[in-house]
Amino acid sequence: MEATIVPDVQKHYPVLLNEIISVITPQHGGTFIDCTFGQGGYSKKILENPKNKVIAFDRDKNAIKLSEKFIHHYKDRFKFIHNKFSQIKKINNENIKAIIFDLGYSTNQIFDNDKGLSFNSKGKLNMQMGINSFSAHDVIHKLDKKELAKIFKYFGDENNANKISLAISKKRGQDILKTEDLVKLINKEKKNYNFKINKSTKIFQSLRIFVNQEISELIYGLINAYKLLPINGYIVVVTFHSLEDRIVKFFFKNYSEDKKVSRYLPSSKNVNKIFELLNTKPIIPSIKEIKSNPSSRSAKLRYAKKIKEGGNFDEFLSKFNNLLEIENIGKKLC
Ligand SMILES: C[S@@+](CC[C@H](N)C(=O)[O-])C[C@H]1O[C@@H](n2cnc3c(N)ncnc32)[C@H](O)[C@@H]1O
Repeated sequence: MEATIVPDVQKHYPVLLNEIISVITPQHGGTFIDCTFGQGGYSKKILENPKNKVIAFDRDKNAIKLSEKFIHHYKDRFKFIHNKFSQIKKINNENIKAIIFDLGYSTNQIFDNDKGLSFNSKGKLNMQMGINSFSAHDVIHKLDKKELAKIFKYFGDENNANKISLAISKKRGQDILKTEDLVKLINKEKKNYNFKINKSTKIFQSLRIFVNQEISELIYGLINAYKLLPINGYIVVVTFHSLEDRIVKFFFKNYSEDKKVSRYLPSSKNVNKIFELLNTKPIIPSIKEIKSNPSSRSAKLRYAKKIKEGGNFDEFLSKFNNLLEIENIGKKLC
């Protein structure tokens, strides 16, 4: 029977839901880890089968209320952990079939003015999803212009990173920058701009990534998911921007393919081949899904099956070490 739980906030459409279900096949029964519970769209679908269990994570304290409804409805088939998914190593191992990550933000978070994730928000800069050590206000007011420029450039791919960080550092001596002030400042600095996306998109993306330490969350979330998963289990990830997708793509590809040093030589055996990659290209939403839910348009789904224990992730960590070092700048704000 269909569960009758309805979240009492803004409707969030679970992205690529049918595609996820066809990868994880919950109709066969098992335990599934939903690393990004949100509005519970994936969890609810998985729990339709009475043989299934879900262990869900979310860092946002607003997810607790909905999780309580799930516990009431599904009893011991559902467990909620209010924590960051990088901590999934702490779960006791069950017969886990798949670990699912749906990165990004749910609709109600984007519309939550207090969180200030959107450039349409009003008031004090924040951008904390939950369980954070500092806010966007701290970043904008306390980091020097070189540090800000690095964040804007590497996490937002912002061409005007130096110009904007210089303008921020000059402005903050005079008054406190609120969300709307930051938007105004960006608009002023990016005069000759005629692209389709909003002028503030890239700066806001970079600040959200930095405040929520999304790069290290993803990297350690993936590594710990691998460690927790039994052989033949799946890791499934939906990403929403190229930086996240680059990390997930490298993680799956690098540990599933034999390496070619030169095109004139045969591939050398990859001793660290721990995944089977069933789909090298990402799965993207159909035109129909994009029409009914435009925010799904940038989603990419990648997944892999674990085939071996003992993975060594030194290469993965060193590949993205520059990004981890930029996130580490945040330590001085804690
Ligand atoms: C896109 S929404 C997930 C929507 C969900 N799949 C659904 O169908 O309703 C992402 C959710 O993941 C949570 N989240 C993001 N990063 C997280 C992290 N590192 N640890 C735990 N939760 C996280 C956010 O708070 C948000 O609720």
